[in-house]
Amino acid sequence: MYPEKLVEQCMKRIQPYACEGFVWGKGPENPTFMLVGEAPGATEIEKGEPFIGRAGEMLNQFLDHLGITREEIYITSVVRSRPYKFETKHAKDGTVIQRKANRTPNQKEILAHAPLLDYQIATIRPKLIVTMGTIALHRLLGKEHQISADHGTLLHTSVLKLDSMETNTYSWTDQQYNVFPTYHPASIFYNRKLLGEIYEDLDKLRPLLHSLHNSAQHMSSK
Ligand code: URA
Repeated sequence: MYPEKLVEQCMKRIQPYACEGFVWGKGPENPTFMLVGEAPGATEIEKGEPFIGRAGEMLNQFLDHLGITREEIYITSVVRSRPYKFETKHAKDGTVIQRKANRTPNQKEILAHAPLLDYQIATIRPKLIVTMGTIALHRLLGKEHQISADHGTLLHTSVLKLDSMETNTYSWTDQQYNVFPTYHPASIFYNRKLLGEIYEDLDKLRPLLHSLHNSAQHMSSK
């Protein structure tokens, strides 16, 4: 749970941009891993729950494949509001329909909500962070990283965090984290071939979950 003041500040920071609503992160204090997505969509904003739309259904299948439940992981994203754009469609009878569509968050929106993700990472100190998609990978590890090269690999690394709300610059944490990048579940709606790659990543992730779990147990029994 975030401090109210922090949420207020971040909502103010994102106000100039076309973003709506707010979805809190969700999960236990000591999750199996922290999942970092991109931003909520229309369904998530409507229901107030992360990853419950179409991408969420894919995520459920991925979690089943890993043999874990949503209750065991902490689900959050780079931006906690829904970035939207207006799309114009022409119906067959010639009527013009305008509708709100989801879109990828831009750098200013990512900066606006950066303190929220920083706060969650610093307080939860997850044993493992699974980034889903390019936005989450770039936010935490920088734009030199490419998802096509890094997906399915465990990286032991510092992550980027905002220096301050005044400077709006990022620097590396002192703390090291285990970061495992993979594709965003929604990516397969545009590129079906990625589904096989995601399942290969999950097959690499599964044994890591066991070894991280066992080493955490070993540490706590010392
Ligand atoms: N995509 C995300 O990254 N997060 C959600 O909650 C839904 C879709």
